[in-house]
Amino acid sequence: MFSIGIITASDKGSRGEREDASGRLIATMLQELGEIKSYKVLADDIDLISREMIRMADELGLDLVLTTGGTGLGPRDVTPEATLAVVDRQVPGIAEAMRAKSMEITSRAMLSRAVAGMRGKTLIINLPGSPKGVRECLEVILPALEHGLAIMKGEVAECARH
Ligand code: MTE
Repeated sequence: MFSIGIITASDKGSRGEREDASGRLIATMLQELGEIKSYKVLADDIDLISREMIRMADELGLDLVLTTGGTGLGPRDVTPEATLAVVDRQVPGIAEAMRAKSMEITSRAMLSRAVAGMRGKTLIINLPGSPKGVRECLEVILPALEHGLAIMKGEVAECARH
């Protein structure tokens, strides 16, 4: 079981004007992968989001932080920038896979600027903001996530062939 944090980036959500269906969906879909240790709904603010990522990684020592929202082209969409500001190594294949598979469903998938990377031994992954986007992207990455986290934590030294 891994320790997991969820950050929903949404101006409206942070003001209590929108229910966070996407954050709840992430929690439901990750039930078998680990335990949700921290969950925050934040305004689309680069400092707030990156500070929370640092807290989840450095203070709480979480294995995985998933974000939802703020990955698009809107003027307030800053989640990828907040992520890139705090990770030491990018994991481009995760976002590449999400976009490639999602393009088979909707051409709007190309509009997500989601990134993924590691801060120490914490893997941080951006997901789009809609519940539909969250579901479709998580379905793509879930099959590989457990193995990736185990490697990151040093629990598995070698990749068995799949
Ligand atoms: N990816 C999948 N799989 N399914 C979707 O419905 N929506 C797209 C895209 N990625 C979508 C998706 C749309 S419409 C947008 S605008 C971008 O994600 C960015 O969303 P965000 O700004 O809410 O993060």
